[in-house]
Amino acid sequence: MGSKSKIYHRSSLRKSSSSTLLFSVLITCSFFVIILLAFVILSIPNSSSDSPKAREVNNIVHHHTVESRKNGDDRGDHREVNSVIHHTVERKNEDDRADQWVEVISWEPRAVIYHNFLSQHECEHLINLAKPHMEKSTVVDEETGKSKDSRVRTSSGTFLARGFDETVRTIEKRLSDLTFLPVENGEGLQVLHYEVGQRYEPHFDYFLDPFNTKNGGQRMATVLMYLSDVEEGGETVFPSAKGNVSAVPWWNELSECGKEGLSVKPKMGDALLFWSMKPDASLDSSSLHGGCPVIKGNKWSSTKWFHVEEYKV
Ligand SMILES: *[C@@H]1O[C@H](CO)[C@@H](O)[C@H](O)[C@H]1NC(C)=O
Repeated sequence: MGSKSKIYHRSSLRKSSSSTLLFSVLITCSFFVIILLAFVILSIPNSSSDSPKAREVNNIVHHHTVESRKNGDDRGDHREVNSVIHHTVERKNEDDRADQWVEVISWEPRAVIYHNFLSQHECEHLINLAKPHMEKSTVVDEETGKSKDSRVRTSSGTFLARGFDETVRTIEKRLSDLTFLPVENGEGLQVLHYEVGQRYEPHFDYFLDPFNTKNGGQRMATVLMYLSDVEEGGETVFPSAKGNVSAVPWWNELSECGKEGLSVKPKMGDALLFWSMKPDASLDSSSLHGGCPVIKGNKWSSTKWFHVEEYKV
């Protein structure tokens, strides 16, 4: 018993070479076991994100939600979706959407661009559905809750009923996948057309009156989809956004109006998601936004508003 305890004593280790050897072998073995364990643990989340299923933005979101339930660990997955800038994914699908990637542009307001969210075919389809029904855009009267003409909004537009056709249903499903908000909470898709000089003055998408929150409660999130490129102007601008608004890579391409805040340039197929509510569900006044006047070309866009509850149609 006395000699055994000496093994662990430094001075006696030097004396006993066989004990030293045994000790070294033990240490080496433990080291390899630890390395192996670390490798196995680290390779689990990696293998799921490398899976060929992770092709589209909506699939990534969906896929990871399912995976995280299985793994009981959702931290890594969500970090990937939330903070990734330039997450390029392979194009390989039945539709003709170009590479999709996600870009977080602001946290106040919470705003994200989903690049190539719609295919060119889908953009043209929405425009063609809406074209015969375009009417001068109105705004909601805060006192009566009814639509009224307005000088702050000079575009023309129309609503496509929720689930209007197969393409609309596909897009609405994809919108729900990306926002994690149910299809039933969405209003019908609004399609808008802005010609040269037409604009939408900065406003909030949430309501401060009791009429407009009767159906579905408050508006919570907005997805603006650009159905066309615009040669000049037509940016979506957030004049109250916090942070350095001139740090965006496209700063030099913005119109004067676009430089009055954080701006997104319309690009066919891109979708801009922003939240009218903070994570604590209070209204976010930094979500103030407008459509800059089109200077050259014309702008087609489509809006999806999500409410906090089911929006009945
Ligand atoms: C904002 O960003 C631009 C471009 O990165 C930089 O030149 C400028 O100095 C920044 N301004 C402030 C106030 O940080």
